[in-house]
Amino acid sequence: MTHHPSRKGRNAPATRSLAPPIYPATVYCCDSPQQASDLLAGNIDGFVYSRDGHPNSDMLADRCAEMHRAEHAAITGSGMAALALAIVAHLKQGDHVVVSHQLYGRSLVLFTSEIARMGIESTQVDTQDLDAVQKSMKSSTSMLITETISNPMLHVADLSSLSEIVHKHQALLLVDNTLASPALCRPLQLGADLVVESMTKIMNGHSDVILGCLCGTGTSWDRVALAASTWGLFASPMDCWLAMRGMATLDLRMERATATAHLLAEQLVGNRAIAALHYPGLPDRADHKVATRELATGTGNLGFGNMLTIELAGGLKAAEHFIQAVADDIPFCPSLGELTTTLSHPKSTSHRDMSAEELRAVGITDGTIRLSIGIEPVDVISAALRRGL
Ligand SMILES: Cc1ncc(COP(=O)(O)O)c(C=O)c1O
Repeated sequence: MTHHPSRKGRNAPATRSLAPPIYPATVYCCDSPQQASDLLAGNIDGFVYSRDGHPNSDMLADRCAEMHRAEHAAITGSGMAALALAIVAHLKQGDHVVVSHQLYGRSLVLFTSEIARMGIESTQVDTQDLDAVQKSMKSSTSMLITETISNPMLHVADLSSLSEIVHKHQALLLVDNTLASPALCRPLQLGADLVVESMTKIMNGHSDVILGCLCGTGTSWDRVALAASTWGLFASPMDCWLAMRGMATLDLRMERATATAHLLAEQLVGNRAIAALHYPGLPDRADHKVATRELATGTGNLGFGNMLTIELAGGLKAAEHFIQAVADDIPFCPSLGELTTTLSHPKSTSHRDMSAEELRAVGITDGTIRLSIGIEPVDVISAALRRGL
């Protein structure tokens, strides 16, 4: 592609930058109506208007597709935009969707009340319970939505079994893979049709970009590019460029953070201040076998992830004390997947829209603290946890 019209005809430079360039342009110059028409129709490669696509989102999409072994990927302005894109590209009035009751709080709002406004019905179900999933499927069911590792209770979904059930009903399996990332799991290889990542989290990993991606294979993809442009869901070149840089170290960061999280989980077993400890790597977990199988489809067998959730025995008072006591080393930041270890209190942040009954069903209490382990030395985090507990 010509970078500037006035450079046309000059020899290409003898060198190229090692880091990818940033293309902030909103619009590109066309040679003729025929060329513009061919570009817009996708008959020739190139860019016209950045809401339809630009070099930095293409580079990032290629990288995401490669990591997920996907045929296609679309980059969106946030993880929520990627979920919204899956909805507007694949669902219509009269459809029914089955939704894991363990989804991230805002995703639950999207897949229940927001889509109800569009005439789409939903049923919430515990996707750990395959019989319940089977029973919730209807002739109008067109999609099942679950998370690989649920937020914040860290249940690992049996994606292979879920995909069998869903495909028997000619529906699509949409997996939010944010907590696992492609470093740990590639849901498309386990039978999913569509995968969403909030790249805001560990994929970018540096707390400086809000971004999402939707990956998929096969014919279910046809409407995605058109829907992304029409609903205005694309991401800025600068954010895509930053995420390329973050993703270059995803495996390294995940490997380090996962090893630390596993060690901390083992250290916390039996701690009397903790009423319940949630980590998929602990062998007494009901989903440990599934986790061992499913979380090994990523770039290597990196383990069970960097997320660790504890329920403090002392409820809200203990949570408040813990948050103050660890604040110097583990700040209360209601996000996850950062370079440094952070914590969140799901009941007052990510899941605050849920009713008391819904929170009970999921298992979130006043004392639930979700830890996102970073890449610091394990001793620093271990000492902070001891202080808090
Ligand atoms: C599992 C999960 N999915 C999706 C999202 C939404 O991502 P974003 O904040 O990039 O829109 C979040 C945000 O916390 C999340 O935790």
